Amino acid sequence: MKDFVFRMPTRVRFGIGITKTLGKILKEELRYSNIFIASDPGIVQAGLIDRIEEALKAEGIRFCLYDQLVPDPTIEVVDEAADVLRKSGAEAVLAVGGGSVIDTAKAMCMLQTHEGSIRDYLFGGSKSVSHAIMPLICIPTTAGTGSEMTAASVITDQQTKTKVSVTHENLIPRLAVIDPQLQAGMPPLITATTGMDALTHAIESYVSLNAGPISDAMGLAAVKQISQNLRTAAADGSNLQARANMAVASTMAGAAFMNGGLGVVHGIAQAIGAAAHVPHGTANALLLPYCMRRNVVGNLKKFKDIADAMGENTEGLTVRAAADRAVSAVFQLDQDLKVPMHLKQVGVTHEMFPKIIKATMEYRMLTTNPCQLSSDDVLSILQSAY
Ligand SMILES: [Fe+2]
Repeated sequence: MKDFVFRMPTRVRFGIGITKTLGKILKEELRYSNIFIASDPGIVQAGLIDRIEEALKAEGIRFCLYDQLVPDPTIEVVDEAADVLRKSGAEAVLAVGGGSVIDTAKAMCMLQTHEGSIRDYLFGGSKSVSHAIMPLICIPTTAGTGSEMTAASVITDQQTKTKVSVTHENLIPRLAVIDPQLQAGMPPLITATTGMDALTHAIESYVSLNAGPISDAMGLAAVKQISQNLRTAAADGSNLQARANMAVASTMAGAAFMNGGLGVVHGIAQAIGAAAHVPHGTANALLLPYCMRRNVVGNLKKFKDIADAMGENTEGLTVRAAADRAVSAVFQLDQDLKVPMHLKQVGVTHEMFPKIIKATMEYRMLTTNPCQLSSDDVLSILQSAY
């Protein structure tokens, strides 16, 4: 066995209905009395902020709400929100939302203790994260991104139309409060695509060149739990057991990829997200089986494990044939969830391919993909997924 490091610094508090006790958690466990709530208009409209505010008021915690965050946050959005936070006098940020809200909040918290614009800190920028950030507590409203468990904040640079990240251990949230009840109102397609994002984290980290035994255990458990619950959670959003299992699976997959890393699916997903504004979960759901088909030869045994975890009957099959079952099982899952399965359906055009390939080849975690891929390989994946 090779050497490995495993970290899971985010403390997780899980419970169906735990939001009701949020005020107590913030006051008695964390000793905060002045909180900045960061969210987006959709979360407010869904009535989720009302429940949070009620819980804070019950404990006399002061708070202000900033609900102007957006999907795929840009440098400008982050810098502006960081300014508002600076003037608020809050002690900590409570991010309530999906991956975009949590990623923006990480960047906002970092800019409270570091000078300049978020642009300076993005991958390849002139500054780097060097010390602690403002404390961040996350309440994920989707079961998928796992951002509440990780060190990365993905930001869109509108000038270059690329997505770049700032990644540093100090960006890891202090606490994640996970309440499946808050996720019960998520529409079927969002449930499906964010759940496929979680599956992508679990699979990519499991077959990653940087995988270790603990991230493997979490990744494989997440694959199994997602396969058993995602269809139900998407078909019947009110099924709290399926919601709870998806929420836990997403958390495990987040911890798995924070340690094991990701691969080409996320590389291409990030590139088409910037080029054609394809939502992150949709992009991963679409690309995952095509990328697996290319990657399967990189680790047949592990792809067989994935097939087994997904409930495929691999008895009597060769390892190669069993590994292929993982690919067909993911195609089947996509089909059952009715997510888009072709790039042309989500606004990607052939003209965008050169830019997408370039961005994918520059992706930080392409190095941990189980097969070393060339530009031609990425082109073949795009053509097959078109
Ligand atoms: Fe992801």
